[in-house]
Amino acid sequence: MAAVEATSELVFYVNGNRIAVQNPDPEWTLLSYLRNKLRLVGSKLGCGEGGCGTCTVMLSVLSSGDTVRHYAANACLVLLSSLHGKAVTTVEGLGSCKTRLHPVQERIAKAHGSQCGFCTPGFVMSAYALLRSQPQPPTMEQLEDALVGNLCRCTGYRPILEGLKTLTVEGQTQTGCGRADCCKLEGNSSDELPADLEMTDVLFNPADFAPYDATQELIFPPELKLNPGMSSQALHFTGPRVTFFQVNELQSLLRIKLLHPDAKLVVGNTEIGVDVRLKGQLYPTIVSVCGVEELENLELQSDGLLVGAAVTITTLQDKLKEIMNQLPESQTRVFSAMLEMLRWFAGKQIRNVASIGGNIMTCSPISDLNPVLLAAGATLTLCSRNNGVRKVVLDQHFFKGYRKCAVAVDEVLLTVMIPFTKPGEYFAAYKQSRRRDDDIAIVNAAMRVNFQPNSTVVKSSYLAFGGVAATTILATNTMKNLQGQEWKSGGMPDQVISSLLKEVTVNPGAPGGMTSYRNALVPSFFFKFYLHVRHQLSIEFAGSVEPIQPDEQELLQPYTKPHHRAMHFYQKVSSQQELIDPVGRPVPHVSCLQQVTGEAVYIDDLPRYEDELFGTLVVSTKAKAKIVSIDATEALALQGVHRFVTAQDLPGDRNKMGPMFQDEEVFARNEVVCVGQVIGLIVADDRKLSFRAATMVKIEYTETNEKPIITIEDAIAAKSYSEPRSIWRGDATAAHVRADHTLNGEFRMGGQEHFYLEPNAHLAVPKECGGMEVFSCTQNPTDAQFAIASALGIPANRVLIRTKRIGGGFGGKETRPATVYVPAAVAAFITGRSVRVVLERPQDMMVTGTRHPFLARWKASFTVDGDLEAIEMNLYSNAGCYTDLSPIILDRAMFTSCNAYRCRNFRVTGYCCWTNLPSNTAFRGFGAPQGILIMEDIMASIASYLNKDPVEVRERNLNRVGDSTHYGQVLENCTVRRCWEQVLQQSRYQHRREQVLRYNQTHQYRKRGIVATPSQYGLSFTSKFLNQAGALVLIYSEGSVLLSHGGVEMGQGLHTKMIQVAARVLEIPHDMIHIEETATDKVPNTSATASSVSSDIYGEAVLRACATLKERLAPYQAKDPAAGWNTWVKQAYFDRVQLSATGFYATPGLVTFDFKTQQGRPFHYFSYGAAVTEVEIDCLTGDHTVLRTDIVMDVGDSLNPAIDIGQIEGGFLQGQGLVTLEELRYTPEGELITKGPGTYKLPGVSDIPCEFNVTLLRDAGWPKVVYSSKAIGEPPLVLAASVFLAIKAAIEAARTNVQTQGNLKPKLASWDKGCLNTHRDLKCEDKTAGSGRCFRLDSPATAERIRMACVDHITDQIETPEPGSFRPWDVTV
Ligand SMILES: Cc1cc2nc3c(=O)[nH]c(=O)nc-3n(C[C@H](O)[C@H](O)[C@H](O)COP(=O)(O)OP(=O)(O)OC[C@H]3O[C@@H](n4cnc5c(N)ncnc54)[C@H](O)[C@@H]3O)c2cc1C
Ligand code: FES
Ligand code: FES
Repeated sequence: MAAVEATSELVFYVNGNRIAVQNPDPEWTLLSYLRNKLRLVGSKLGCGEGGCGTCTVMLSVLSSGDTVRHYAANACLVLLSSLHGKAVTTVEGLGSCKTRLHPVQERIAKAHGSQCGFCTPGFVMSAYALLRSQPQPPTMEQLEDALVGNLCRCTGYRPILEGLKTLTVEGQTQTGCGRADCCKLEGNSSDELPADLEMTDVLFNPADFAPYDATQELIFPPELKLNPGMSSQALHFTGPRVTFFQVNELQSLLRIKLLHPDAKLVVGNTEIGVDVRLKGQLYPTIVSVCGVEELENLELQSDGLLVGAAVTITTLQDKLKEIMNQLPESQTRVFSAMLEMLRWFAGKQIRNVASIGGNIMTCSPISDLNPVLLAAGATLTLCSRNNGVRKVVLDQHFFKGYRKCAVAVDEVLLTVMIPFTKPGEYFAAYKQSRRRDDDIAIVNAAMRVNFQPNSTVVKSSYLAFGGVAATTILATNTMKNLQGQEWKSGGMPDQVISSLLKEVTVNPGAPGGMTSYRNALVPSFFFKFYLHVRHQLSIEFAGSVEPIQPDEQELLQPYTKPHHRAMHFYQKVSSQQELIDPVGRPVPHVSCLQQVTGEAVYIDDLPRYEDELFGTLVVSTKAKAKIVSIDATEALALQGVHRFVTAQDLPGDRNKMGPMFQDEEVFARNEVVCVGQVIGLIVADDRKLSFRAATMVKIEYTETNEKPIITIEDAIAAKSYSEPRSIWRGDATAAHVRADHTLNGEFRMGGQEHFYLEPNAHLAVPKECGGMEVFSCTQNPTDAQFAIASALGIPANRVLIRTKRIGGGFGGKETRPATVYVPAAVAAFITGRSVRVVLERPQDMMVTGTRHPFLARWKASFTVDGDLEAIEMNLYSNAGCYTDLSPIILDRAMFTSCNAYRCRNFRVTGYCCWTNLPSNTAFRGFGAPQGILIMEDIMASIASYLNKDPVEVRERNLNRVGDSTHYGQVLENCTVRRCWEQVLQQSRYQHRREQVLRYNQTHQYRKRGIVATPSQYGLSFTSKFLNQAGALVLIYSEGSVLLSHGGVEMGQGLHTKMIQVAARVLEIPHDMIHIEETATDKVPNTSATASSVSSDIYGEAVLRACATLKERLAPYQAKDPAAGWNTWVKQAYFDRVQLSATGFYATPGLVTFDFKTQQGRPFHYFSYGAAVTEVEIDCLTGDHTVLRTDIVMDVGDSLNPAIDIGQIEGGFLQGQGLVTLEELRYTPEGELITKGPGTYKLPGVSDIPCEFNVTLLRDAGWPKVVYSSKAIGEPPLVLAASVFLAIKAAIEAARTNVQTQGNLKPKLASWDKGCLNTHRDLKCEDKTAGSGRCFRLDSPATAERIRMACVDHITDQIETPEPGSFRPWDVTV
């Protein structure tokens, strides 16, 4: 048998180096081997489930003949054992800062495509694998497709695409932005652009890039080339827990399957790998089947396509395309539908390895292939040692239950036969997911119908659906009903829709939630299929079958998104400015070269200390309970497990922590108050062991009498909130009485997961005298220093926190990492050994809190013209279980809740709701996105009510210089109207609004919306004492400069800007200045790097320190002006002049707002901006596309336009995610369900606005901040309100349309009353009185919410279960 003949040596290549491993442990993945054994740490662990792309590598293998197949893969899922005979290329194999950069690396770096850099090696590798996978340059479409499996949380993707575009066909042939009417093309001119010679859009120069020369690439290792069978050689490895076989002939496979019926066959390991890593599954026998010829078959036969079970999705896609070019369309309708389905299947890295057999045999109810195969009537060939070959038609009897099918345990799937379509047969497939690209389906469907000869009467039909039951199903009753019916308008589609609504019903409370939406999607897909077939019939039976409408035809077109286009304009520096002076120039991020080469070091990349232990958190599984017992005996009995650290180790107040109030426990002592609360830390010799040990700790709980409080409504009912605080001006109550119109409303905004790509990572190293040095990915080193000192019971001067860079923070690493670094330091203190803790993505998401969900109840009064008279709003935030920063986040929401508008009578009251969720925390915008979106929703409601252009209503109320806010701060430098007018003009708002109105008149099922929103953002920490900053500048006697300041570099370009400031003051080239890290022994008592003000305050501190030094050097410069910097420094040194200086800055003029007296001046100044966004929605599915966004932003005199534009794009996209895709789901018991990229969807590369134009307002210098610049980190995010409201406008158009016309006429009983329930499943109790156009839409505007708000006769037929009559799968918190 194969196991006997098999070799136990694994041989493969990494970056050209031969690696041979005797009997490798089958549990190792390629990523863990690269990072831990080879110390190649450029490939990162962002999720471990194939969903983020940070681990991307290129695999190369000899395929047919002597051609080599190069493809991208996720190293976190690739089994080490599966690499025999393959070559691996990692980011380190491409180029390096020490030698030369690869063109891919250079282009991403110089085009400003790397901010925090954690995602960057993954992008580099995906693009590199694309270049290597084909001889000719890729197209932009191929490039975007290659990047779909890579997430970036910082850049907004535009700069990555622009840099890489230079390697594509389009980039090499095209000038301009890609639009036919681009102003840069000869003969074109546009009124959209600033016709201004001082403005430029140049952020990098492609002419500087080294050309790409494929002949320079690393060759495929000759040893592998000379041994063609090596990659499929039989292998047998035995590890402590798992045995691995690789078989190369069918009989061996069947024998193993007979002997080990539980053996798991693997091809891509994309199902099994996720089960093992995330669900803790252990599969003792793994069999790789990639070498078995029968499973690799891909053959066009007389009746269809025979596909081997081990064929990958990518290979199948290529084959289908090839066949479709050869055969008549009527024969390949299944293939065409399958291709359309596979287009949305995962990311490229997964498609390159995932197999057809793996997809079928997983039997997932949301498999994308199974509905197609079921509807097509595919035939499977199965084989076993004892019973030989048998054929099974894939029908309703094949799937037996959740992840179960009619395949015997000793059977293997050999092939699947996909039949051709016959004449008179039609086929289509549909998929709806939360995010269009790289997401599993919510519901998918495939449908086939064939007609009696030469007629439109149905002979038979096959309607297959996924995502609506425990298995993929066929709607057999409806199929029967359809038989003999004529395919025509009138009763037929309605009858089928009603039949489907009865037959395919997801019960309330079913796993996956969204039950009404899923019920609505089934008939909605059928309606599309009905139109599709009618269209085909109208061609075949021209004259006798009525053609469908042009807009219906458009609806049937496969989704195509125009290629991304972007323009970005900023003001050039004056021609008088010295070339050496970098301020105002697009200087690339100072560590971009390290980031693109994988040389940039993050905490988990630090080499291991010899004595190092790894720690894993043990957390609560209950939201509210008393701890009865904690038993770690079993875990501690494992060899190599050293200690379980708990509250017992921290007596008294040493177990207390918290940034505002010490109301948190480091380790839960007697009771737990949320799922995810830290109970202890287990420390062991290595990561895997410590994860395993953590699962063995037994915690016994007993329920308390009080029920856990999970939602805001629970908290309101239980009065579980802080003493409410208000800000007011005028008398809103009296003004409501006088006003022309008054509206009441309620609006809910969901939270948001930070999803920094680098999960929490901290390394605590004990020092002499009981001190502690901690390498931490914190945004807040000083808080970390104090929290650790307090837990260890030592003075702060014994604790050193060092932060080199962090892989994204966005507020999530401001205070919550304390739950990780304090336990790490305590464990290091107790054991006397270094302790590293790196959270797995699910635990990071579960433990560290999110942006605060908000509920707003409001009342607004206004005149007939739309002038605001009075607004009252109550804001309720879901703060979770601890105070953290929640009160001041709520304060900022209240400060921003009038956005950029004047309202003489305004009252906002805030309630911090305490719930049994993990403590929610800071997130970019710090309450402002909630405050501003709520206000903008009110403005939209007013405009709808008055039936006015919302631009007009907003403009009437916009602030001007001299106006004052509702908290009484006078606006000195208010540029909001300049931003507003410019963005309206540049976006051609009026013209495009007319186009949108026309589009909506002629399109029934797709609607568009275009909306402009302004922003006014107050800059300063609202707690006055935090507005201080320090810097330390050292000049070494040979002339180089080392700069330290209190801010943390997390991708936002802070270090780059600080170096630019120092370079200007010292008048030296910026590359003579270096920043090593942020450390508490350099600059003390720092505030968190937060609130967008870091450049402002550290810039001033750096400026002052440098100015001091410059003054000291001035005599030397005066004495010998020509001698130059190095000589002046040397002479000063010999004269014993101090060559180091500190700088300190405290923001002037601030007065902390006093809620009692309503007095204060909380902000140093305001930043302004405006955006116009246009979207399109699909009313039948809820899908949306952001067609175009234009932004004009006031950043003062930009310190670095490339960084500022990058912050605007990245911030905006994060905001777009907040209001569209990103939805946190919790069980009714308070456990987070969405714990990874598979279930929680960030915007991907295809979600950015198809056209994205950013302009920095010119002549906007603001002299009260360093070099007249303004802050940028958070303000652009709030402009994403325009996306949400554009979607709402499009839905409004759909609802208006349905009211007046259309095939899908809903009953709309409540429409005329102007009080329309969008859907009770969404808790849309519409409290808005007034015209019928007003309706409630909560944020995020997910596909579910969009579809269910586009009411029609399908949604009207869906019964909403009574709350309380079932246990919901999830709750809105
Ligand atoms: C990030 C990510 C995104 C994804 N997106 C999608 C998506 O959009 N749509 C979708 O449908 N799926 C998706 N999946 C699921 C998964 O990729 C597919 O199901 C894939 O086709 C599985 O193939 P594999 O070769 O990797 O399976 P493996 O993990 O190797 O095996 C899966 C199962 O199939 C069994 N098996 C494999 N081959 C055979 C055989 N010949 N005979 C008998 N049993 C066999 C194995 O024993 C195992 O139980 C995604 C997965 C990930 C990780
Ligand atoms: S770490 Fe591999 S895809 Fe996220
Ligand atoms: S640069 Fe992409 S995640 Fe930070």
